[in-house]
Amino acid sequence: MKIKLCQSALATTAADAVVLGIFSGEKLSDAKIPKPVAETDKATDGLLAKLIERQEVSGKLYELTPLLAPPGIVSGHLLLVGLGDREKFNAGVAFRAAAAAAKQLAGKKRAVVAYFLGDTKADLTEAAVAGAIVGCQGQDLYRAEKKRQPFDEILWSGSDEKTIAAGAVLGGSMNLTRRLVNEPPDNIYPETFASEAREVAKAHGLACEIWDQARLEQERCGSLLAVARGSARPPRMVILRYTGTKTDAPILALIGKGVTFDSGGLSLKPTDGMLTMKCDMAGAATVLGAMQAIARLKLPINVVGLMGLVENMTGPAAFKLGDVLMARSGRTIEVHNTDAEGRLVLADVLNVALDQKPAKMIDLATLTGACVVALGTETVGALTNNQPWCDEIFKAARHTGEPIWQLPMTPEIYDEQIKSDVADIKNVGDGRWGGAITAAKFLEQFVGDVPWTHLDIAGPAFMDKPKPWLDGGATACMLRTLVEVARRWK
Ligand code: BES
Ligand code: MN
Ligand code: ZN
Repeated sequence: MKIKLCQSALATTAADAVVLGIFSGEKLSDAKIPKPVAETDKATDGLLAKLIERQEVSGKLYELTPLLAPPGIVSGHLLLVGLGDREKFNAGVAFRAAAAAAKQLAGKKRAVVAYFLGDTKADLTEAAVAGAIVGCQGQDLYRAEKKRQPFDEILWSGSDEKTIAAGAVLGGSMNLTRRLVNEPPDNIYPETFASEAREVAKAHGLACEIWDQARLEQERCGSLLAVARGSARPPRMVILRYTGTKTDAPILALIGKGVTFDSGGLSLKPTDGMLTMKCDMAGAATVLGAMQAIARLKLPINVVGLMGLVENMTGPAAFKLGDVLMARSGRTIEVHNTDAEGRLVLADVLNVALDQKPAKMIDLATLTGACVVALGTETVGALTNNQPWCDEIFKAARHTGEPIWQLPMTPEIYDEQIKSDVADIKNVGDGRWGGAITAAKFLEQFVGDVPWTHLDIAGPAFMDKPKPWLDGGATACMLRTLVEVARRWK
């Protein structure tokens, strides 16, 4: 999709549709009314003032009001989108409002769509551009009759080339992540995910290393390999390197859980729980998307991205309850539940990450249903061994407007819970309470003393139901925040 600056006023812009942002509770007589709103009102002979006066249009968040063949407007379709309270307008709202408008307009083929969201700051514009690109792409990959048809071209008013180009990079990378997650598990499995990663690396100048089964065995990744054993698809580990500054500068490591399908293994999931488990590689797909965006934006930072790719199945060689695994770090793990596989994969990927001598690490994983119980489907859970590092990530997330909430790691309370009578640790806690925390406690065993934050994206990575701003399916949550973390890196 192309994106260009729009130089004309809304009324004279030739486009299949034009989008105009409206804040709630603002009258046309207000001094701070955005310029395109005032101009459009004038061009339509006071139509907007009338609609707002009669409370047909409130500016409420994500409210969409299509005006067809409006008088005085060249385009035949003027779509008003509510931006909510001006005081609460941030990059998250900008992203979602722009996406909501795109989602509606992409219901039909439209070649050119122009956006007039008012005189917003560059970072908000960037988020909105990303939203417009994400909103018009659906999960209908295999439908003959598409629900969403992306525009050929977006025109953006009131910005500059650099800002809209950055927004297009973010939106494009999010759509890459979303596509990989939305693809059926029989198309995206460890080998095919790895070749997608290799293509991304080649296209954007990233160094790419792919470990196959033999290499993983050589490296004694016994924990990851155990999970892979029940599957006909061999595992992979992908290591991507982006060098955006001098080679001895501190490295940021991004680690992703890439379980391309999670049947639960012998601790088999029921149908309802298994249905969406193609999404269990969302962490890895988000790391890949973020690496692509960071490379395309040429950020002055060194980043290594590691993705652990396995399929968790029940084949004849599947790992069993009671098995004791030897992780790459040398720790022994007693298996109490084969459905707690994500942490087993990450144990070895985190250990490989340590070899890169990273200054700081972030892992992303659709790790626990318990995190969804605790925080719901829209908020990411964060757990850390280093509060200042977690605080930095929270600042970035507040900037991008992505919901996130921290859970405790209190050693006196939780450390006991992953001890095993047979091995060093077991792969679940005592009982099911605090499951998101005991999972993080397990991961903590494999991060050494490197500042590390774990992001449990089990809730927000994949939507069972559509949102006003997005079709159901993959969301690419936290991708914009990871890029923001890389931007703030020092
Ligand atoms: N992939 C799941 C977690 C998940 C649940 C992701 C819902 C997305 C939506 C993970 O591998 C899992 O099965 N976790 C278990 C852990 C338990 C066995 C300790 C869970 O949460 O039930
Ligand atoms: Mn599982
Ligand atoms: Zn899983």
